[in-house]
Amino acid sequence: MTEQAFTPPTSEWYQPDPALVAAANVPDYEAVYDRARQDPQAFWAKRAEELQWYQKWDQVLDASNKPFYKWFTGGKTNMALNALDRHVKTWRRNKLAIIWEGEPGDKLSLSYWQLWQEVNKFANVLRGMGVKKGDRVTIYMGRVPEIAIAMLACAKIGAPHSVVYGGFSEQALASRIEDAQSKVLITCDGAWLRGKIVPLKNTVDEAAQRSPVVETVIVVKRTGQDIHMEGGRDYWYHDLMALPIAKPRAETEIMDAEDPLFILYTSGTTGKPKGVLHTHGGYQVYTSTTLSWAFDIKEEDRWWCAADPGWITGHSYIVYAPLILGATSIIYEGAPTYPYPDRWWQLVAEYGVSILYTAPTAIRGLMRFGEAWPQRHDLSSLRLLGSVGEPINPEAWRWYHRVIGREQCPIIDTWWQTETGGFMITPLPSVGLKPGSATRPFPGIEVDIVDDDGAPVGVNEDGNLVIKGPWPSMIRTVYGDDERFLSQYWAKYQKQGWYLAGDTARRDEDGYLWVIGRNDDVLKVSGYRLGTAEVESGLVSHSAVAESAVIGVPDELRGNKIFAYCILVAGAEGSPALEAELKAHVRHEVGPIAVPAQIEFVDNLPKTRSGKIMRRVLKAQALGQPLGDLSTLED
Ligand code: PRX
Repeated sequence: MTEQAFTPPTSEWYQPDPALVAAANVPDYEAVYDRARQDPQAFWAKRAEELQWYQKWDQVLDASNKPFYKWFTGGKTNMALNALDRHVKTWRRNKLAIIWEGEPGDKLSLSYWQLWQEVNKFANVLRGMGVKKGDRVTIYMGRVPEIAIAMLACAKIGAPHSVVYGGFSEQALASRIEDAQSKVLITCDGAWLRGKIVPLKNTVDEAAQRSPVVETVIVVKRTGQDIHMEGGRDYWYHDLMALPIAKPRAETEIMDAEDPLFILYTSGTTGKPKGVLHTHGGYQVYTSTTLSWAFDIKEEDRWWCAADPGWITGHSYIVYAPLILGATSIIYEGAPTYPYPDRWWQLVAEYGVSILYTAPTAIRGLMRFGEAWPQRHDLSSLRLLGSVGEPINPEAWRWYHRVIGREQCPIIDTWWQTETGGFMITPLPSVGLKPGSATRPFPGIEVDIVDDDGAPVGVNEDGNLVIKGPWPSMIRTVYGDDERFLSQYWAKYQKQGWYLAGDTARRDEDGYLWVIGRNDDVLKVSGYRLGTAEVESGLVSHSAVAESAVIGVPDELRGNKIFAYCILVAGAEGSPALEAELKAHVRHEVGPIAVPAQIEFVDNLPKTRSGKIMRRVLKAQALGQPLGDLSTLED
């Protein structure tokens, strides 16, 4: 099922600014792309040499067991070595690593030295609580500096973290804890969002009941309301950090390049979320290279990736890559429009943000409030702007470019996925732009658009986006489920050995790539990734619902909104009250992002003879479009 198709306005060009290009970290995209294509391994080896290793690799790429590729085998490193340890031995120890602003306006800045000390202290706490190399730790927090500290401390001791986005509810949290078998969970009492408290610890209490594997819960005090603390299980972070054991020096675990750094669960085509596994070595090389080249990070920059650390964007580009590069990374806790629609612009001006990276849905949301809000603030510190998460519609692109970027900041539209670890298709400052196109593949990456048999499609024709060769930060497997890794990403083009992205895309006459949307049962709602099956299982877990089907329908603000169709159990009656109850139920079971905009009660659903729901038919019907080929329809 393809999301709404649009005709790309291929004639609209924005040429690169010569001054920006001349000063760029990579002034000539074409030359570097060619060099990487000629010898990808030499290219990646050179990038890896920019980082510190305890021991150099023997082999850049081990492709002996495709598609279980290994990178920098024999190499010894640790994310914490490059993100922190090496910086505190240089002048960078005095530089700000993180600037944090809470939604209520409280502030905290940490220099590299301070961050390093906090991470060391917490690493010692975790070790003291018995966490060992290889143990999985679940993190369920708001956007506070402690989330970065927790992630880095886990990396430092070699314990893979699994960060669960704070907007997920207890069922989603419990299933992720269960899948990762984490005995330790790090959380906050609550998080501030639009002036209200999101009661994270309550959710943790319920999740821990559903998932008894949790033995220890560490709680950061953020919002201060009364919460339940379970004796023998729950500990306050600040109490632990005050213990003598929390010394500000800690050994960094020496990790193999291929040892796991983290698991991050993402939605797929079944109800069960997939634990995408990333490792210490290749992920460092790839994320730091992409950030440095696409966003042209300079020592003096103030980089603001406005995502949540709980998603891959936050992992790669709030926490890890900026710190590897020794950059200053900004974290803001709250909503963009709280208390007023100029909150972000006020922060840009206050902190002198030079690069802002956000999602189209946020831009569209801010656009609604008009130009007066940004115009109230001096945004002249901005040098580059970025977009991620879904296709950016040209109107939002132009507004972002004109109103926020004064027509002087290139829009770096980055296409990538949880599975890819870093940007795959993105302009560098030396690449001309077309609004709505993520432009060209990153150096070292070969992509194509092909039909179901693997033949390349013609210019401006829709096809499946594939990635033709391995790259250092590629997903290593689905945690605990190699079969699913193979069937999901590699089975379709097994013969050719290509990675299937799950997106529909096209290439125009200039070779520019246009990603149109998902072509599987994955939805993008406000840039969040959700499986139709996750929402459906949330609905059928209500006693009144026998069966359900969920589709995404284009929405001006959110990209897509969720429409749900439910068959009720015998005796249950569809009503507005039941619709409201089901929405509340999904909010509780899955999370606020999964709540359907509309629920329709139906007597049956269109199915194939083998019993598969034909969501395509529901979608065409909802949009008033032709129903297409119905030959496989059962009835
Ligand atoms: O459909 C594509 C869309 O987001 C999907 C990946 O989602 P997730 O793993 O949550 O990662 C989001 C942040 C990297 C992709 O399969 N997507 C992401 N960026 C873009 C995009 N679609 C179009 N243009 C983009 N720039």
